[in-house]
Amino acid sequence: MTRPRVRTAVLISGRGSNLKSLIEASASPDFPAEIVLVISNVESAGGLAFAREAGIATRVIPHKPFPSREAFDAEIDAALRAADVALICEAGFMRIHSAWFVKRWENRILNIHPSLLPLFKGTKVHEQVLAAGAKESGATVHFLVPELDSGPIVVQARVPVLDGDTVETLSARVLETEHTLYPEALRMVAQTLAKRSAGA
Ligand code: GAR
Repeated sequence: MTRPRVRTAVLISGRGSNLKSLIEASASPDFPAEIVLVISNVESAGGLAFAREAGIATRVIPHKPFPSREAFDAEIDAALRAADVALICEAGFMRIHSAWFVKRWENRILNIHPSLLPLFKGTKVHEQVLAAGAKESGATVHFLVPELDSGPIVVQARVPVLDGDTVETLSARVLETEHTLYPEALRMVAQTLAKRSAGA
């Protein structure tokens, strides 16, 4: 008997190249996660097109009209629950969640960050790496916790920093790695969740 696939939502704010790699991986029927919803807080986010092309439901929930982080997160939470989502992948979602939301979805939110965490947290990551003169960088998929870019690491991949690298060349090299790393992490986590819910 085939195991039911883990109903997964992806949260984005922009280009959505990681979303695209997750959609492609999950197109295979034996992939343990199924992407059932894509939420963007930005109406013009390019990634929404990848979801629409794949026939995946989308929701645009702009954060600005909400009076607080909690109120915005409550709307996201309602959309996730309406779609019966069990797992969330944040893929370039550039909003910090309320502690309430993170607790509610504890161990159910993955995030990808373009550095070897715990090094180089926050924004302008590749600028930070180049300014520090680091010889290598990489990407990390981790579970979300209330502290920014912290939380248990699922997988990491290393990428060399080359002489003459610019933000553009380094970010492109890291991004290429992200596109294999995130599907790999989602596969691992979804497999574990599916086994747990089947009582195996
Ligand atoms: C990715 O490089 C991702 O690691 C980064 O935003 C980019 C989104 O690209 N996320 C963060 O910096 C979160 N702290 P994408 O929209 O093409 O997937």
